[in-house]
Amino acid sequence: MTVKNLSVSRRQFCAGACQVASCAALATIASACGDGSSPNSPSAPATTLGTLSGQFSGSSVRINTAGTALDTVGGAALVESIAGVFLVARTSTSGFGALDAVCTHEGCTINGAAGDIYVCPCHGSRYSRTGQVVNGPAKANLRQYATSFSDGVVTISI
Ligand code: FES
Repeated sequence: MTVKNLSVSRRQFCAGACQVASCAALATIASACGDGSSPNSPSAPATTLGTLSGQFSGSSVRINTAGTALDTVGGAALVESIAGVFLVARTSTSGFGALDAVCTHEGCTINGAAGDIYVCPCHGSRYSRTGQVVNGPAKANLRQYATSFSDGVVTISI
């Protein structure tokens, strides 16, 4: 091996090292930017919520949680009743959130979820579990309802 060849090898080595460093930096930037795989990201795919029946009486809708998605903290379901359709989520051992399931964009029934985000099947509007618009085209939040819980039954006050 000659000195000249060794010099070229160093140059080639440095060029290769710079390429490796550049690729590593790009990989770090790409991972920091996210790839949409978070369940709450705007592009996360939605799954269809299970549907439960609610019993309307007076000014409330009652849902028995036994054996349903609402039996577990974090679970959510679409509740149908003659008083309307509701998105209901269990937020704690005895806490629930209830929202109007009619999308404020053009009135489709919201029946999907991606992580803690509700997703409208028609044009993709996304709402938080408290009904706030996370992504449009909807501009108005979903109506929230007060709830209570006793003996395995959630009561939505309407
Ligand atoms: Fe829900 Fe359009 S009706 S996004």
